[in-house]
Amino acid sequence: MTDDAAPAARPAADPALARRVVVVAGGTGHVGGYVVRALLDAGARVVVPTRRPAGARGRGLPDHEHLVRVTVRDWEQPGEIAAALDDRGWVADAAVASLGGWWIGTPLVELDPLVWRQVLDDNLTAHFLAARALVPLVAAAGPDADPVHVALNGAAATEPMALSGPVSVAGAGQRMLLDVLRREEPGVRLHEVEVLAAVAGDDRNLDPVAEVGGTAVAAAVLGVLADPGSPAVAAVAGERA
Ligand SMILES: NC(=O)c1ccc[n+]([C@@H]2O[C@H](COP(=O)([O-])OP(=O)(O)OC[C@H]3O[C@@H](n4cnc5c(N)ncnc54)[C@H](OP(=O)(O)O)[C@@H]3O)[C@@H](O)[C@H]2O)c1
Repeated sequence: MTDDAAPAARPAADPALARRVVVVAGGTGHVGGYVVRALLDAGARVVVPTRRPAGARGRGLPDHEHLVRVTVRDWEQPGEIAAALDDRGWVADAAVASLGGWWIGTPLVELDPLVWRQVLDDNLTAHFLAARALVPLVAAAGPDADPVHVALNGAAATEPMALSGPVSVAGAGQRMLLDVLRREEPGVRLHEVEVLAAVAGDDRNLDPVAEVGGTAVAAAVLGVLADPGSPAVAAVAGERA
């Protein structure tokens, strides 16, 4: 099992990341929080859009001069993100979508359609709406800025998970979403970080077979943001829990 609880030495700013302004959709979540903290440690400026009202902090987001948290009322028209960037004179050149989350329940043939719609909304439509808003936003930074969009996904995207059918279906759809975007938006690097194990510390993962530390997942995301030669899909494996 991987242990993220031990205090780590504060890393030095990374020049390839310190120049970046990164919008982290889902930065309030379990995995997104690790990505936000690693980006701040690397010297990046970070914007976290959230549906939560001002004052709701999310899991462990730090107070930091380079972190802006902005409430988005409607992801179909998230004008608050551009407004927050304009307020600070920041130009976003990178986006991370750490959206969705785990669900386990019933076989598909017993699944309540309301649950199906909710899981697809959170795990697939949320990625579509984030890409719809953020891919053009980072493209506008121009080719010299190496605009990039990275989406987190899980093992269920490629492995059919019994009792988690809607998560598997959404994950497979999420991968095709990026494949189509790659054809349509050649000016933006589009990548997936596929997390093949439960992320340690998430109490929604009951008796996981394998675990990976959140810092390892964040390091994979930051590696993709920093390196234009990154693969389309970068997998992060775990260790037996
Ligand atoms: N946790 C794990 O063990 C694990 C393992 C493998 C892969 N992953 C992957 O990591 C990613 C994030 O998972 P997580 O466990 O960190 O999830 P999480 O803790 O539930 O956080 C997900 C975030 O997504 C946002 N969100 C959820 N539904 C949304 C919707 N309908 N519209 C807009 N935003 C929505 C929420 O932000 P607001 O409520 O602030 O708007 C929330 O903070 C997913 O792609 C997942 O597949 C996680």
